[in-house]
Amino acid sequence: MSTGLSIVSYLGATILFILCLGGLSNQETSRRGNVYGIIGMTIAVLATVLGPRVGAAGLPWIIGAMVVGGAIGLYAARVVQMTQMPELVALMHSLVGLAACLVGYASYVDTSIDFVGAEKAIHEIEIYVGILIGAVTFSGSVIAFGKLSGKIGGKPMLLPGRHLMNLAGLLIILYFGRDFLNAATISEGMRSLIVMTIVSLAFGMHMVMAIGGADMPVVVSMLNSYSGWAAAATGFMLGNDLLIVTGALVGSSGAILSYIMCSAMNRNFLSVIAGGFGSDGGAPKKPAGDGASPAGEVTPISVTETAELLREAKSVIIVPGYGMAVAQAQHAVYEITSLLRERGVNVRFGIHPVAGRMPGHMNVLLAEAKVPYDIVFEMDELNGDFPDTDVAIVIGANDIVNPAAQEDPGSPIAGMPVLEVWKAKTSIMMKRSMASGYAGVDNPLFYKENNRMLFGDAKKMLDEVHVALSQS
Ligand code: TAP
Repeated sequence: MSTGLSIVSYLGATILFILCLGGLSNQETSRRGNVYGIIGMTIAVLATVLGPRVGAAGLPWIIGAMVVGGAIGLYAARVVQMTQMPELVALMHSLVGLAACLVGYASYVDTSIDFVGAEKAIHEIEIYVGILIGAVTFSGSVIAFGKLSGKIGGKPMLLPGRHLMNLAGLLIILYFGRDFLNAATISEGMRSLIVMTIVSLAFGMHMVMAIGGADMPVVVSMLNSYSGWAAAATGFMLGNDLLIVTGALVGSSGAILSYIMCSAMNRNFLSVIAGGFGSDGGAPKKPAGDGASPAGEVTPISVTETAELLREAKSVIIVPGYGMAVAQAQHAVYEITSLLRERGVNVRFGIHPVAGRMPGHMNVLLAEAKVPYDIVFEMDELNGDFPDTDVAIVIGANDIVNPAAQEDPGSPIAGMPVLEVWKAKTSIMMKRSMASGYAGVDNPLFYKENNRMLFGDAKKMLDEVHVALSQS
């Protein structure tokens, strides 16, 4: 492929990636957005592999690597459960970071191009910064994978003097950065690179370990953004314009998503990254008996009573959460929704921005079950409607409907906007036990006078409610 054709292909791929992002911003256009992305990536890969910079000798290596990588990707995509997607995404981010590190080291020891003067300095800065971002992304994503998959506890690890440790790490990185640029030999430069890589790996681990359960959504999107910048850094090191642009698109869209997540959770972005925000920061626990844990009477409800309440309701709001994904209850939700709508009930869905374990988790599940888009609303769009709602059904959600966020200033989730289901005439919480959610915070909603608890697996309960409703 000629250089001209390769540049035009890269331009085409870039436009398709932008159209892809535009499409993904809306449920109705997301399928089209995905198609744009697939076509763009196919063009990008072909233009690179067949482009002027890959010689015939390198082709078998690239094809071999693509076959192995493609087979692993295909296998992972087929076996991974929807509930495991966030951890798979975190693992993939870690691979982007690892790739940036490896490309950085390879570029440094590659002497086939002789950079001199300012060009040499710029190339070395690209390498240093690329490996730095790559190492932070790699280790941070591995820890995020551990936390999201439950292999590492969700509680924040708050080391004493952690901010000072971060500052010391930054100073070491700057010191060795100067050393690296002044290195007379490759082995001298290697020493600085290795020290910086170790400090960056430790920084990435420390940063994510310090972030509490409720703030994990921000970490997921933040690492998404980092992986984009790591890819852009790789593009600079390799002199590949498409990789720079694509990386910048992922990096900036991830940063915007992190900002949206922070606004949704009423968190300060910088405080979340600095770690420990949203946790008690090591402050002493409130003594028992002063309202530290919610308590009172819990009112269980049976399947028949639930069906009766729904039969009499004129308006219903359904709030799905992580438990709906675990139980794979979205199809049962759809069946009940259809039945109620056929009977003239106004059924709507309220989606919290951090419901589930990844951005858009609930929207994807509801779309899969063919729930019409026009009855699925963002939290802000219908939070004011609960007082006029007969029944609010919470399906496997917990943190996102926790009134402690508004009522208890000492709560780890204080200030986080939540869906105000307790303002409906009756709220029904569908879950298996009295256990807390991802943030590990007790939920006073269980004890509210107008709240009922329907204990059991969400899918099983919904199927039974559907049968009871159909028979009446
Ligand atoms: P959670 O607060 O985690 O609550 C989920 C509830 O589902 C649990 O309390 C659990 O109670 C119940 N459950 C589990 N399996 C179930 C089943 N088979 N049937 C019925 N119920 C089941 O979920 P949420 O309300 O969606 O809130 C999301 C949380 O995850 C937030 O804290 C958020 O910060 C965090 N998070 C979000 C993301 C993103 S990007 N969305 C990423 C990482 C973390 P039982 O065990 O009693 O059944």
